[in-house]
Amino acid sequence: MNILILGGGGREHALAWAIKQNPKTDRLIVAPGNAGIALLAECADIDILNGATVVTFCEENAIDFVIVGPEAPLAAGVADATRAAGLLTFGPSAAAARLEASKAFTKEICDACAAPTAGYARFTEAASARAHVKAKGAPIVVKADGLAAGKGVIVAMTEAEALDAIDDMFGGEFGAAGAEVVIEDFMTGEEASFFILTDGVNALPIGTAQDHKRVGDGDTGPNTGGMGAYSPAPVLTDAIAAQAMAEIVLPTIQEMARRGTPYQGVLYAGLMIEEGRARLVEYNARFGDPECQVLMMRLGAQALDLLLACAEGRLSEVRANWADDHALTIVMAAKGYPGAYTKGTVIRGLEALPETSSQMVFHAGTTARDGAITATGGRVLNVTARGATLAEAQARAYAMVDAIDWPEGFCRRDIGWRAL
Ligand code: GLY
Repeated sequence: MNILILGGGGREHALAWAIKQNPKTDRLIVAPGNAGIALLAECADIDILNGATVVTFCEENAIDFVIVGPEAPLAAGVADATRAAGLLTFGPSAAAARLEASKAFTKEICDACAAPTAGYARFTEAASARAHVKAKGAPIVVKADGLAAGKGVIVAMTEAEALDAIDDMFGGEFGAAGAEVVIEDFMTGEEASFFILTDGVNALPIGTAQDHKRVGDGDTGPNTGGMGAYSPAPVLTDAIAAQAMAEIVLPTIQEMARRGTPYQGVLYAGLMIEEGRARLVEYNARFGDPECQVLMMRLGAQALDLLLACAEGRLSEVRANWADDHALTIVMAAKGYPGAYTKGTVIRGLEALPETSSQMVFHAGTTARDGAITATGGRVLNVTARGATLAEAQARAYAMVDAIDWPEGFCRRDIGWRAL
């Protein structure tokens, strides 16, 4: 079959890598892709936020299956457009993707189905939001309601930080995403990510992971999109996963179906785990990045069969076959990230690294220029390995990092520390 993946980051490189290994794949196109993806698939430079453009491209290229990677095309209704055109599609409708695109909507759903989550209040102007923070005190969590490229959640450890966040959001720092603000009670515990495929009725858990959001070793410094991840997440035990399914995920899927907006795709539940129980932190309507990289490394070619079963409403017929292994990915970023960084620096040494079922460098922000791989993003490479133990996966991944010649890049040296 001919498959189109929308997106151009490490998540989409990992999806393409896994899907390419499946014999069902004839032609694989990734839009827009990147320099690493171009080594295993065709790349197409189209506007992936425009549903009509994507549909026309699919028709011209006889695409049989569309997989939507990032949240922005989902929120823009691209999966609605491809489905309306009769194309088999993996990814929720814009109405269902509100589980990521609106923090207030997610809270509404949690209220409706009694899913455990932090207490909250919603505000559309600064004065009452500020009064709420003053009444509650810190720590407290301030969230822009809409999509803000991972930057709209402030875990404020002081009242002053929370008040500044409110002023920034209502001051327009996040544009329309900050027109409504959700203020949540601070939750203690350990965070982990739980990934569930759902066809709107059936649900299939496909793995757990933990990422490292802070830029510096020891979980210090500013927040990022994620500096590394590993799977499985030992804190998310089978018993906690079962409780999260029963109390959070399944009630959410049922509530979305009841409202006439069934959720089809991957549901990424960010969970806070404390005293053997999970509470919902947030939902995302897509695979995590870089969590997808470790999930795909462990799933391999079967990922396509699972995504197809999800899109075709056949999830009750399939199961994920896990090896009893571990995978870990290290993000190499441009120096300065998550602040200002230089683009266009040259990365050497990648061609000498192994590309096997247990070691792979996924590209997140690269371009090929004059025969060289150059860095064009903040997060640039995802150096990924699997092993019989997490320690083995970590040692393999850092050995690969050390073989990459990129003076303008950096990474954390402690990915996986919580689980080791
Ligand atoms: N790594 C966090 C995310 O994908 O949202």
